[in-house]
Amino acid sequence: MVGRIPASFIDELLNRVDIVDLISSRVPLRKGGKDFQACCPFHDEKSPSFTVSREKQFYHCFGCGAHGSAIGFLMEYDHMDFVEAVEELAAREGLQVPREAGQRQGPDLRPLYTSLARVSQFYQVQLRHHPAAASAVEYLKRRGLSREITTEFSIGFAPPGFQNLLDTARGDSDELKRLWVTGMIAESEDGKRYDRFRERIMFPIRNHRGEVIGFGGRTLGEGKPKYLNSPETPLFHKGRALYGLFEARKATRHLERLLVVEGYMDVVALAQFGIRNVVATLGTATTPAHLQLLLRAVREVVFCFDGDQAGRDAGWKALEITLPQMRDGCEVRFLFLPSGEDPDSLIRKEGAEAFNRRIAEATPLSHFLFDHLASQCDTGSAEGRVQLTERVKPLLTQLPQGLFRQMMYQQLSERVGFGLRGPIDGQSDKRTPLRLKASLHTMPPVRRAIALLASNPEFAQDTKLPGGWENLELPGIPLLQELLELLRMQPNITTGGLLERWRDRPEGRHLAKLIHSLPPLSAEGQAREFRDTLVRLSSQSIQMEWEALVAKAAGEGLEEVEKQRLNQLSKEKANLDVLRT
Ligand code: UTP
Ligand code: MN
Repeated sequence: MVGRIPASFIDELLNRVDIVDLISSRVPLRKGGKDFQACCPFHDEKSPSFTVSREKQFYHCFGCGAHGSAIGFLMEYDHMDFVEAVEELAAREGLQVPREAGQRQGPDLRPLYTSLARVSQFYQVQLRHHPAAASAVEYLKRRGLSREITTEFSIGFAPPGFQNLLDTARGDSDELKRLWVTGMIAESEDGKRYDRFRERIMFPIRNHRGEVIGFGGRTLGEGKPKYLNSPETPLFHKGRALYGLFEARKATRHLERLLVVEGYMDVVALAQFGIRNVVATLGTATTPAHLQLLLRAVREVVFCFDGDQAGRDAGWKALEITLPQMRDGCEVRFLFLPSGEDPDSLIRKEGAEAFNRRIAEATPLSHFLFDHLASQCDTGSAEGRVQLTERVKPLLTQLPQGLFRQMMYQQLSERVGFGLRGPIDGQSDKRTPLRLKASLHTMPPVRRAIALLASNPEFAQDTKLPGGWENLELPGIPLLQELLELLRMQPNITTGGLLERWRDRPEGRHLAKLIHSLPPLSAEGQAREFRDTLVRLSSQSIQMEWEALVAKAAGEGLEEVEKQRLNQLSKEKANLDVLRT
């Protein structure tokens, strides 16, 4: 892109931004003394060790060691790169990011932005002054758009005729080239250039800095296509643009939630009714890039679709795109409107209050996921529940590691009525690198159990520890078993003693590291955690065996002993359920 950002600007930016404001727009902070506190967004924890200091403009987590400035926070939390984080903060403060002259990389896009700003201005002027604009004004009025809202969204009019925009650039070959590159003029086969947009209501599409990057143009009547959009250009990428995002952020200081609709008119109509937190995709299905943009801007996204089959299908596609980005702390819901309605038509019919109620009652992602799949399986039968499990699981594996993922597994097991191999089994998810070693819940369960036992040797004396986990073929299981047996026989061994015993064995160093990486937790909490972990591992083992037997039952059938085993597994499962509660 362009030159380096001067260091002095970074200093100034960090002086202006308040890190407490910034973080609290993403993570709820509580005042504690002169600092602010929260449960750390970078690792799972139950009591807050994440501290934000207004004085130091610095955040720090005592649990996992994450720390940094406002820029660092955006890089970590919103997964931005450095430049994006600086631009984001600058936009919040209404500052332009200056660039040092000199080593430019890539073409300078600024003249293109300037050109589109001029075009947008031109269309707005045409809407007010062109002799043919009366029909456009009439059209907007008929659609119920006020002058204020039209102005706010910089809506304009491309007059009829092939030369209007061309004429504004007559004689300026550079400007002609820019209009060509930005897709505003097109070229016929015989090389004649002409205005791409003619006799259309023009909706400018802006980027996060408010610069116009493209347009959507609607016919006044029945002409085809109904909406014509800018083609892909160096500035405009449909799959990454959201109509109305800039306007929404401008209207609301701390956006909490965004509603995603399908049409330009929906965004503008809802805005006119006071619902300002609305964006639209531009005639494309939701893309991962859209999701990323949305979840950077807010913690809650509500997708709005027509309630007909096509709308539901589109909703399901959006859900699939969303799963890999469902970080803990974000919320995604789905709003299906009565069939045949869009937000524009509906809000005019029933008003803002009723519409807001619909938003408030939108379906959480988890419900949509389970209900949609459950409707395809006979959940009254065991086979149907196995089928449901099989459909749900591949979706859940796409979720990032974290509490939400665990809760989804739990919901699944509640729905189908047995324990399942959860997200915390041995192998961690490669697509989402663990941020830290120090969190109890990001530690694979076998390691967690070893660490807890090694730091609390007395846990081995608990006579109610569940069995079953020994059968799992996971790394660490033999070590856990060995530790447990040793400690049962030698109840007086201390943690230090254990380490001594393992000093010369390869696992010894490992053991020390594990103990070291345990986060602080009350003795009682650790005891509970240890037992729960064993219970979960045991369920996992029983579940695997159960699945194998059920599959066999469905196929070649079971031997008598296997039937007995299946019976026994059901009982063991019931026992474990008692232990779980
Ligand atoms: P719709 O056809 O649902 O139209 O297109 P709408 O938004 O309700 O428009 P009005 O109310 O008739 O004015 C939804 C969106 O799909 C894209 C546009 O982004 C539009 O807002 N679209 C639609 C196109 O890109 N091209 C088209 O020809 C039609
Ligand atoms: Mn419509």
